[in-house]
Amino acid sequence: MKPKVYVTRQLPEEVLAIIHQSCDARAWEDIDLPVPRDVLEREITDVEGLYCLLTDQVDKALLERAPRLKVISNMAVGYNNIDVEEATRRGIMVTNTPGVLTETTADLTFALLMATARRLPEASEYLRKGSWQTWSPMLLTGQDVYGATLGIIGMGRIGEALVKRAHGFNMNLLYYNRTRKPEVEEAYDIRYTDMDELLSVSDFVCVLIPYSTETRDLIGAKELRQMKPTAVLINTARGGIVNEEALYEALRVGTIWAAGLDVFDREPVAPDHPLLTLPNLVSLPHIGSASVATRMKMSRLAADQLIDAIYGRRPANLVNP
Ligand code: DGY
Repeated sequence: MKPKVYVTRQLPEEVLAIIHQSCDARAWEDIDLPVPRDVLEREITDVEGLYCLLTDQVDKALLERAPRLKVISNMAVGYNNIDVEEATRRGIMVTNTPGVLTETTADLTFALLMATARRLPEASEYLRKGSWQTWSPMLLTGQDVYGATLGIIGMGRIGEALVKRAHGFNMNLLYYNRTRKPEVEEAYDIRYTDMDELLSVSDFVCVLIPYSTETRDLIGAKELRQMKPTAVLINTARGGIVNEEALYEALRVGTIWAAGLDVFDREPVAPDHPLLTLPNLVSLPHIGSASVATRMKMSRLAADQLIDAIYGRRPANLVNP
């Protein structure tokens, strides 16, 4: 008999087929919506493996219902949706999908930085609604990216990939991280600073740090006040790291110049969220890793790790401490 697993969303057919070859898999049928909690609570009771997404809360209460569970394979690099401590206590392996999404997420981060700096969504909207009457000296003017100072908060894989892109734009580079990265400093002429300096001298601040109880509200009213009035804040990590009320106020009164967010505290963000009324906010629906090739790689890697763990092989990316 094949081991039972549950998959919380429709996956590309070839990936699901790979799981079916080794496992007795049941999957939530909806391609666009997360599995309802009561269904997940029911489905998890007899499975050895759970293939889940960042939209699934895998908490203590859920794990209590899963006495046979051996592995939780998350199709994401971030895993703040999973209570890893509780899973570890129960001897359950937790895996994520780093590496395969690095370049794609760095591309999106830089694209969002450019779009926010040069007001691309606002300019496009201006043209489409027929407001464009003439070329005008200061019409839709933005901030220069080439040669500007970029401060990166969090120097993991995606931070490093962003540095390579910024280097091509001759940017002056600073970073803050829990640990220093001498090899990155040397290769890209990037300087380590504390948060205070990074915030006060950067023209662009990119948040790329993982979400945790320590990084929640890392950027709040005080930090936003430390930034330049011409500064642009970009967050492609997790929503709760930037306090949304403080950001709304800072953008409204001009404490900072603009922000680009790919992530929100609650996702999907409500369409009537105050932040979305601001012209100096560029907002995206959490698409950092959303290229066809990368999502295929992520879904395949998560499947491989699910199967490896179930069959007693060490999965490539274990996140348990
Ligand atoms: C992740 O992997 O954590 C991203 O947020 C989605 O790709």
